[in-house]
Amino acid sequence: MNTLVTGGAGYIGSHTVIELLAAGHDVVVIDNLSNASRAVVPAIESLVGRELPFVECDIRDRDGLDRILASGGFEAVLHFAALKAVGESTAEPLRYHQNNVAGTICLLEAMAAHGVKRFVFSSSASVYGDPADTPIGEDCPVDPRSPYARTKAGVEGILHDVHAADPDWRVSILRYFNAVGAHPSGEIGEDPTGVPNNLLPFVAQVAVGRRERLNVFGDDYPTPDGTGIRDYLHVVDLARGHLSALDYLSATPGVSVHNLGTGRGHSVFEVVRAFEAACGRDIPYRVVSRRPGDVAVSWADPSKARDELRWTAQYDLDRICADLWRWQSTHPHGFRGRKA
Ligand code: NAD
Ligand code: WQD
Repeated sequence: MNTLVTGGAGYIGSHTVIELLAAGHDVVVIDNLSNASRAVVPAIESLVGRELPFVECDIRDRDGLDRILASGGFEAVLHFAALKAVGESTAEPLRYHQNNVAGTICLLEAMAAHGVKRFVFSSSASVYGDPADTPIGEDCPVDPRSPYARTKAGVEGILHDVHAADPDWRVSILRYFNAVGAHPSGEIGEDPTGVPNNLLPFVAQVAVGRRERLNVFGDDYPTPDGTGIRDYLHVVDLARGHLSALDYLSATPGVSVHNLGTGRGHSVFEVVRAFEAACGRDIPYRVVSRRPGDVAVSWADPSKARDELRWTAQYDLDRICADLWRWQSTHPHGFRGRKA
């Protein structure tokens, strides 16, 4: 299939592009490089042994999108481009809605104008808010608790409206749980700018000596060891879920919603122990107060993706930590400093 991947230079997008190219799909990546390095493009090319067309373009640039879509003969768009920091979204809600919602509207308008009507959307488990029960199924009510999560829930609603108005659209909404890990080659991985917001990138930077110690955000949750529990999903498993979603779209009209998660939860302390085993070093930590907005427990019921997409996560937490450590230890400063 001939695909356009927005945000394809970013963390999940780049891993998905590798899987798409390896499976024989044609790919064009667009990214405004607001949270990515151009150096990821040659890294992907050398891993896959294929050329990767890349265009620096913002999804809010309608003229730029028109030029790309007019030249491409695209059959589907995989839409990763978004701002994703929950805390930042609370401080800058308009920037988040402008980028994630208005940007997606611009992209959908351009697609419609060029007759491209297959769409895979990166949604988030954060749309569920703080559900009463786990595991979380897709029928759990949507209750977004941050501007970031509201951008995801808002776009989901827009996609349902677009399909209702024009049933030719085929849309796959994928609600990711916690994307973690790195490509098994060690050549591609997450490269957060500044202080990492998320647990595993922070732990990896402690292990490699870039940070002194981890702050564990609360050990007084109603969980077995008191720390928060999440569903950590290897980024390569997540990437492969997109290929399953494309297959599903080919066979299935309408709008579908699927959780992508492992169906297993791990506490912060379990993650720390698994990473210590992978890197052979101690991870110093101290327990601090809870992070505002965090929930105690979040893990997926992934059975709908298993049954309908024929997708199941393959990699466990130990593999996640081993692959992340390979990337972090060989690229302690990520892509920065590498020339494209
Ligand atoms: P990322 O920041 O690494 O990737 C997003 C990419 O989009 C970046 O390369 C950025 O430069 C680009 N981008 C942002 N705004 C753009 C714009 N206006 N025009 C063009 N490019 C733009 O983030 P990621 O972790 O790879 O996340 C990918 C998608 O998955 C996002 O939509 C995110 O909200 C969603 N998501 C991520 C997680 C996670 O755990 N990382 C969980 C749930 C959902
Ligand atoms: C995991 C656990 C923290 C950092 C976020 C977004 C979500 C999605 C994925 C995009 C929690 C604890 C963390 C640290 C810690 N992104 N923690 N010390 O919050 O589950 O999800 O990323 O859609 O929308 O909210 O992931 O990795 O930040 O936290 O103790 O330095 O680790 O309290 O229990 P989260 P996370």
